[in-house]
Amino acid sequence: MCGIIGYVGARPAEAILLGGLRKLEYRGYDSAGISLVEGGEIRSVRAVGNLDHLEAALSSAPVNGRVATPATVGIGHTRWATHGRVNEANAHPHVDTSGRVHVVVNGIVENYVKLRERLIADGAVFTSETDAEVIAQLLASHYNGDLAGAVASTLAELDGSFSFVALCLDEPDLLVAARRESPLVVGCGADESFVASAVPAFLADTRSVRYIESGELVLLRAGSVEIRDRTGAVVERELVEIDWDDETAEKGGFETFMLKEIYEQADGLAETINDRTVRGSGVDLADEGAFDESLLDGVQRVVILACGTAYHAGLVGRYAIEEWARLPVDVDVASEYQYRNPIVGPGDLVVGISQSGESFDTLAAMRLARARGARVIALTNSMGSQATRDADGALYTRAGLEIGVAATKTFTCQLAAVYLLALRLAELRDTLPAARIAELVLALRGLPQLVDELLAGLEPSVAAVVEWCWDADFFLYMGRHVGVPVALEGSLKLKEISYISTDAYPAGEMKHGPIALLDESTPVVAIATDSPLLAKVISNIQEVRARGAKVIAITTAGDTTVAQHVEATIEVPATDAMLAPLLAVIPLQLLAYRIAMRRGLNPDQPRNLAKTVTVE
Ligand code: F6R
Repeated sequence: MCGIIGYVGARPAEAILLGGLRKLEYRGYDSAGISLVEGGEIRSVRAVGNLDHLEAALSSAPVNGRVATPATVGIGHTRWATHGRVNEANAHPHVDTSGRVHVVVNGIVENYVKLRERLIADGAVFTSETDAEVIAQLLASHYNGDLAGAVASTLAELDGSFSFVALCLDEPDLLVAARRESPLVVGCGADESFVASAVPAFLADTRSVRYIESGELVLLRAGSVEIRDRTGAVVERELVEIDWDDETAEKGGFETFMLKEIYEQADGLAETINDRTVRGSGVDLADEGAFDESLLDGVQRVVILACGTAYHAGLVGRYAIEEWARLPVDVDVASEYQYRNPIVGPGDLVVGISQSGESFDTLAAMRLARARGARVIALTNSMGSQATRDADGALYTRAGLEIGVAATKTFTCQLAAVYLLALRLAELRDTLPAARIAELVLALRGLPQLVDELLAGLEPSVAAVVEWCWDADFFLYMGRHVGVPVALEGSLKLKEISYISTDAYPAGEMKHGPIALLDESTPVVAIATDSPLLAKVISNIQEVRARGAKVIAITTAGDTTVAQHVEATIEVPATDAMLAPLLAVIPLQLLAYRIAMRRGLNPDQPRNLAKTVTVE
């Protein structure tokens, strides 16, 4: 995730862009930059680090006639590195060889390697390792006096999901922005126009917005905005008045960060999955220069270490790695691991999963394993975190900053990352036929879209369930196979934000004790998505119903068998059975959220909990 912004108007652009970038910093903060049309030139300043570093660089950078005529047109970027290391050369804006076209980009250009080779053959000189730079170079190659035309031709050549804003010195009063999947919204002031990844970036200046649809491009001039569709036809788009207060704006219009983050999951998943997979073939994890695939050579066992929600992601990882890569996998709660004198060493690949990369116990467990000779990977959402410094390599999730204490989008991105790791291991070990790998890659790449579809229709079915179960004293969750970690995660979500007592079990274990807890007042949440074990899950559902419990089943859309045996179903779209946890957990996040809200609690700040646990 990166944040992009553009301004064209009558006021000094620098302060407006910097103010907007501050509101977008949650999307990325490893480097930042802005380009301003100033004194007949484009002045571009970039800096590694957060926006304070950019501000300092701007105040010491040479100025072109800035005092007499401060720039009123410019673009800005705050980066979350995907392609290319964190350094000034890879920071945006990116510029074509002539220096006349500048762009800021969010997202991923999947076919950038081929495009880059072609552009180099045609004489372009690249100065960064990024995929984004091809957009600047391509724009320049198509430019013949019409930036909007060049953007349309460029879009036709790009694969991937991205949004960008472009600026060309030959048309200094114009910005052209475009979107494919990644977010983009336009702000319409009286004699000024804004464009950004999210509304809060310009909310201090205008509350009138037009939303840009995927595939469209938009021309912005001071006080005028023209939206064009794929065919070049001008599109009329409704002007929406945003009535959010400052606090709501920070939450992107949602009532809480947790809800915003639940709804951001498709975006983070696309960023985590898309450029690491090649449609029709396999997986490539060698990104960001942080992950050397030789770490995966000759692995004899995988050990996953994590706490809380991240541990549940590790449990799913065990099923995927064992099934696909046929490697033995141990998954351990990090706080227990180090006191067990574990048997670990050369030949073991240790994966520490931690969204923050700072959990004390996970770090301690990773260090112990490394000291005993294992190679260690940090699977984390936090670039440069301690976990990455203590490990031999880092595999990043790209969920963007998560503020709600209860992990949601970082969990689904962790699942995506462990699936990618499992598939890559399978490829390297030749344990799956190429056709099956291609099928799984396709299924993985389809997940962001399925998550969007799921969330678009989820609230009514969750609301119907909340209506009758929100004041229960105890919930029990159960599942089988990959449904077990989903049950554990659903149970954790509900207890931590609603303070309801919950438990989770493999459904086959119910008869061995937990069934004694059940009576007519107990809601039981059953993970009953399509799988070879579904018939067994249905038998377990019947057992708990025979004790009077009321069952809420998470089912696959179109299934008609489970509904006959339960009080309520919440459907998720169909996918490969191994990937189903990534969809099945989302209704459980929303169920926990809506129950907590119904009980008058603040899910963003549950009592007694902290976002990052940096003590033992
Ligand atoms: C639960 C939750 C925690 C964290 C755990 C590990 O919603 O957020 O259980 O998953 O504290 O944190 P990280 O992933 O930062 O190591």
